[in-house]
Amino acid sequence: MRWRLALALSCLALVALAGCGGETAADREARMQAARADSLAMAQELYNATVFDTVSWESPDARVQRGALVWRASCEKCHGEGGRGDGLGAQQLGIDVPSFLVPDWKYTYEADSLRERIFVGLAGEMPNWGLHGLGYRDIDAAVAYINTLVSAAR
Ligand code: HEC
Repeated sequence: MRWRLALALSCLALVALAGCGGETAADREARMQAARADSLAMAQELYNATVFDTVSWESPDARVQRGALVWRASCEKCHGEGGRGDGLGAQQLGIDVPSFLVPDWKYTYEADSLRERIFVGLAGEMPNWGLHGLGYRDIDAAVAYINTLVSAAR
């Protein structure tokens, strides 16, 4: 009986070594990329720029203050305190995060495209916040805050 158990265990170990039933690392990577592409497509389909027209704030300050909160809670770990892409989390994860403070940054004061980018995400490690975690109001606030970071660096 024992030898049967040993045989079964060795077979299991072999299957595990072969990568869960034959799936290679390349297969898994391809599957992850396909899932990522699906999720970007879903976020893009859901995105509706006109919803921002319904967002209102009691004052510009309130908007920036809320944006600072969103930034600290959701962005800073990768993008860094000032938006230079030097967050501790990014370093720990070993991912490259672009700086928002480069002189020719493509979203400089481009609120519409910046909102859409935050909602939809990017193919790399940038989460799609519209699907995972932030509503239109908080995205609007984050954009106001990012603009203050960009202005402060000029
Ligand atoms: C897990 C790390 C991570 C977090 C958290 C994160 N980002 Fe990103 N972000 C990235 C990476 C990596 C890129 C570059 C991705 C690429 O080019 O495919 C990026 C790109 C961007 C870009 C495009 C910048 C450019 O120059 O093209 C914007 C805008 C952005 N992030 C905003 C935000 C905001 C706002 C938050 C918080 C709500 C946030 N990100 C949270 C990792 C992160």
